[in-house]
Amino acid sequence: MCGIVAYVGPKDAAPILLEGLQRLEYRGYDSAGLAVVNAKSLKTRKVKGRVADLAAAVPAKFKGTSGIGHTRWATHGAPSDVNAHPHLDQEQRIAVVHNGIIENADELRRRLEGEGVKFESETDSEVLSQLIGRMVKETDSLREAVLRALKGVVGTYGIAVIDAQRPGEIVVARNGSPIVLGLGEKEMFAASDVAALIRYTRQVVHLEDGELAVIKADGFNTFTSDARETAKEPFTVDWDAGHYDNGGYEHYLLKEISEQPDTVARTLRGRIDDRFHIAHLGGLNMDARETRSFRRVKIIGCGSAYYSGQMGAQLIEELARIPADAEPASEFRYRSPVVEPDTLYVAISQSGETYDTLAAVQELKRKGGRVLGIVNTVGSAIARETDGGIYLHAGPEVSVASTKAFTSTAVAFALLALHLGRVRDLSPADGRRICEGLRRLPEQIKEILTLEDRIKELAKKYADSPGMMFVGRVRGYPVAREGAQKLKEISYVHAEAYPASELKHGPLALISPELPTVAIVPDDELLDKNLTTLGEIRARHGRILMVGHRTSEAADDCIVVPKNEVELDPILLTIPLQLFAYHAAVALERDVDRPRNLAKSVTVE
Ligand code: AGP
Repeated sequence: MCGIVAYVGPKDAAPILLEGLQRLEYRGYDSAGLAVVNAKSLKTRKVKGRVADLAAAVPAKFKGTSGIGHTRWATHGAPSDVNAHPHLDQEQRIAVVHNGIIENADELRRRLEGEGVKFESETDSEVLSQLIGRMVKETDSLREAVLRALKGVVGTYGIAVIDAQRPGEIVVARNGSPIVLGLGEKEMFAASDVAALIRYTRQVVHLEDGELAVIKADGFNTFTSDARETAKEPFTVDWDAGHYDNGGYEHYLLKEISEQPDTVARTLRGRIDDRFHIAHLGGLNMDARETRSFRRVKIIGCGSAYYSGQMGAQLIEELARIPADAEPASEFRYRSPVVEPDTLYVAISQSGETYDTLAAVQELKRKGGRVLGIVNTVGSAIARETDGGIYLHAGPEVSVASTKAFTSTAVAFALLALHLGRVRDLSPADGRRICEGLRRLPEQIKEILTLEDRIKELAKKYADSPGMMFVGRVRGYPVAREGAQKLKEISYVHAEAYPASELKHGPLALISPELPTVAIVPDDELLDKNLTTLGEIRARHGRILMVGHRTSEAADDCIVVPKNEVELDPILLTIPLQLFAYHAAVALERDVDRPRNLAKSVTVE
């Protein structure tokens, strides 16, 4: 959730750290801070607020050629200057930035306080700086001090540590919270996300859980928590700094919504085979025999990733006729799941670093489950931990609310369903129909984007409602769930999604002129049933915004999108709801890209 950036090299560290923190701000943003080493002492600035507030607080003469920076999303202790990172030891020799949660922080704090250590902050993270501060006096080696300190620590962390006595050296460590090294020309970087490094280098190395590194201007070395050296091969990130710019759009969210013709095309590129009407998914690392052997598919992910998984389960059941269902990874990991050898597990994550999803993958692997990843971020933890998978190639998603990753995930599921279906009973004719439908998607998304002005008007009309209901049946239900999720997270308008079929079993009691309904009504075999539901809502004086393939007098307003194959229509029906949520949030003057209380990548439990 929080962001870490570190630099060691010949240049002034502070501007580089501030630039990196700006790139990470979307991950967590209630306070920020940095520390640099200068003339064997630490210079530190920490503020409650945004990176811009920190930049304003850093004086021009903040010299030092190695340093660490942090943006915080509070877990232990309220957002405040003093709780912001970096945290120092009481001798002011060591500075630490930390992502994650130290579970035995209270116990460690009590022990250290008993030994006379005075704590400044309420955070769990300060135990790390105080512990390392004590160890460094005993060992006079930063690497050794960090190794020893971490031995007594229970919890998750990504950390970067500097020592005033060793200006040219930074120690970083990873356990459950990502750390990536960036290799420059006679300079080295480290960060919690490549976004912070990409302006300076595309050569990166990901640390594994339990791994540490010492970085210096002329290189790095990595080792395990029992001090065994490890060999790491750098790889080149195929995103560049331009991917992180807002491209002239007012918000990243609108940029990312607008990119979808292109991002969907990228997810599809090279993966459709017109000869056999199959999908080429080499990354699955499974031959046809193995692909046929699965009798069930279980999909896990969190938030919008989970809703895209529900869309995926529907696609797999329809096209491959394999029982499939999706479950929040955050629940799955805690209920001691029964892991079956003939079940194919699929983990979904845009960031590839969501802690709950990663922990669920690790639990599955520990029990011998076969796990695929549908992931956007190349080289991320979930991509590395899974047995194979599908990269989305959607480019970096910066806005907290997921849009292009959602549609690309749904497209990846359509490819997976086609692949699973064509080694089973999906006919060549149906395979061809799906391939052709997939190819039509980018152009149809372009058409939907031309409806933006009309959707903007509708968003303004409905934005001041105290809440909204989203309903859909079967294929339309995940669309409704994702539509409600988008609206609530960026506009803070309460939104609930229900299967349309469930309305009369309870939620119909809520229907009134004050609670409008967004109804997902595709032209499919359930059209009449959906129109009947609209009639029921209408009879209770509920206002209706219908999203589908036709207009209806039963609705107050309609958004009509182009028709594709019934199985693929949900992907297209999602897009007007993204625009609706975006314009509702803008109308309500919300912080669209950085909604309150949320962070882009949830790397804590
Ligand atoms: C999406 O709009 C949300 N911000 C959130 O639900 C997100 O999808 C979820 O946290 C999972 O993230 P991931 O795809 O990076 O794992």
